[in-house]
Amino acid sequence: MNKRFTTLVAPLAAVLMFSADMARSDSAADLEPYAAKARAAVKTMGGALQTKLKEALAADGPIAAVQVCKTVAPEIAKEQSKAAGMTIRRTALKVRNPDNAPDGLERKVLEDFAARLAAGADANTLEHVEEVTGDGKTIVRYFKAIPTAAAPCLVCHGSAVSGELKETIDKLYPSDQATGFKEGDLRGAFSVTMDK
Ligand code: HEC
Repeated sequence: MNKRFTTLVAPLAAVLMFSADMARSDSAADLEPYAAKARAAVKTMGGALQTKLKEALAADGPIAAVQVCKTVAPEIAKEQSKAAGMTIRRTALKVRNPDNAPDGLERKVLEDFAARLAAGADANTLEHVEEVTGDGKTIVRYFKAIPTAAAPCLVCHGSAVSGELKETIDKLYPSDQATGFKEGDLRGAFSVTMDK
């Protein structure tokens, strides 16, 4: 590379890199109010799901609780979505219910969460927010990792799911992929979509 080219281009490249950084941090700050709303809605929905699940497990045991997960989880998602004015769903790389299979961006984010987790990140802090423009409108998509806890998750998502519980799950979900998880694994993510 000749000297004149370097003296011209290097400062220009520095300016361009700097402005790209600025644009990125501006848009992250711009999206934070949306992320804050989504974070709060996900917390409420996660709490409601855990409460129902724990009640069902304590009252009737895991086999009956599978039914509760099947009917109550989608109901809670619908209710919370309506209350918060956004769409909230759960997704995963390995799903029990095929309706929860990830779309392109969800898959990309889940793979990124899994990589960050493997690199030592704390699963409870993994989140991602981005703006998506298409069909003449702009939406905001927010994602929050769902880690696998030992209790109660492994009862139905661990490696030792067997007997009547396994039969019940297989009957309701013939294409179930959501077993074999270990404590601390990425189980999935909440996925939120809202208008900007
Ligand atoms: C009683 C059994 C049971 C327990 C315990 C349980 N799950 Fe599930 N889980 C299910 C069933 C059934 C579904 C499918 C729900 C549906 O049809 O939408 C499911 C679905 C999910 C999904 C949505 C993605 C998918 O695979 O379809 C996530 C995420 C999830 N569970 C996470 C957890 C976590 C985290 C815990 C522990 C806090 C947990 N589950 C405990 C039975 C259980």
